Amino acid sequence: MFSYTLNPEWISAFSRVFVLSKIRSEEKCVILTEAGSRMENIQLARIAMTQLGLHHFVIEVPTPNFAPGPIERSTGASYCLTGHDTVVAALCDCDVIVDLTVEGLMHAPQTRKILQSGARILNISNEHPQALARLVPDESLKERVKNAARQCRESKEMIVSSNAGSHLSVDISTAPSVGIWGFTDRPGTLSHWPGGIVVCFPQEKTVNGVLVFEPGDINLTFKRYFDSKVIFHIEEDYVTRIEGDNLDARLMREYLHSFAEPEAWATSHVGWGLNAGARYEALAMYDKNDINGTELRALAGNFLFSTGANEFAKRYTRGHFDLPMMGCTIRLDNVCVVSDGKLC
Ligand SMILES: [Fe+2]
Repeated sequence: MFSYTLNPEWISAFSRVFVLSKIRSEEKCVILTEAGSRMENIQLARIAMTQLGLHHFVIEVPTPNFAPGPIERSTGASYCLTGHDTVVAALCDCDVIVDLTVEGLMHAPQTRKILQSGARILNISNEHPQALARLVPDESLKERVKNAARQCRESKEMIVSSNAGSHLSVDISTAPSVGIWGFTDRPGTLSHWPGGIVVCFPQEKTVNGVLVFEPGDINLTFKRYFDSKVIFHIEEDYVTRIEGDNLDARLMREYLHSFAEPEAWATSHVGWGLNAGARYEALAMYDKNDINGTELRALAGNFLFSTGANEFAKRYTRGHFDLPMMGCTIRLDNVCVVSDGKLC
């Protein structure tokens, strides 16, 4: 439904994000792609870099084969660098990595090593370029996100509630908190575009309560809005029961069971969206292949609850749900940051 002819405004959007990331002509830049990467975004990155006079080259690795077993989607943990040590070494030798892999390097096994080399990674989410162009970040978004991340680091407790009956408490006193605003100019850091999100990775045994998903909440692994009410019972980080006699609940139970490991049922991260430009209805407007759903992760005023891997709680699994919830109230040490789904 949307055009795939490269639009000049899309080129401008890519240029803007590269300028915000303060990429300099003397820096070594690589555009990392895989066989399944979105061709338009590769072209847009190349054109924008060329127009800005940035020296760059493109690396393409094969897209990993889907192994038998659970289907992995929207994990943010690309496995496309696994077995490609030569490529990893080349990436470590660069200053800037424009990450156009399908899943993204956010939680990839090699990312820590790459960042430790001093390279900075700008992940461009696997979205239709029209969505990216609608969500070009700016300095004000960076300020909002940085303030939110600081607030998380300075707080001891996050309480999430809703009229639907959610009540979740998270001890965040020692939880690492990360703000993502869509560009990065600091060596050794990663950001993704679209941005506008803060996430905390709770330590072990710090998440307890009940989350009530209502029709209109979102499951970004399945890329669908909830049609029905689903209730998560959470004890010491783990979803111990999924209540609901409906398709949403059944799909979630089946999918989590399919990993056959308890970690798939545990809390990965908690946080909220801060991007006022993100559109709630976006998931209804694009075909599933056209979006990765990062817009909904960043939607201003959502509560983003996620299950799956959390390295800070020493849990590793390939199962991952990102579940933006609408209409929640989030308090940090009794200070309201989101009220009934609106940023305070
Ligand atoms: Fe996630």
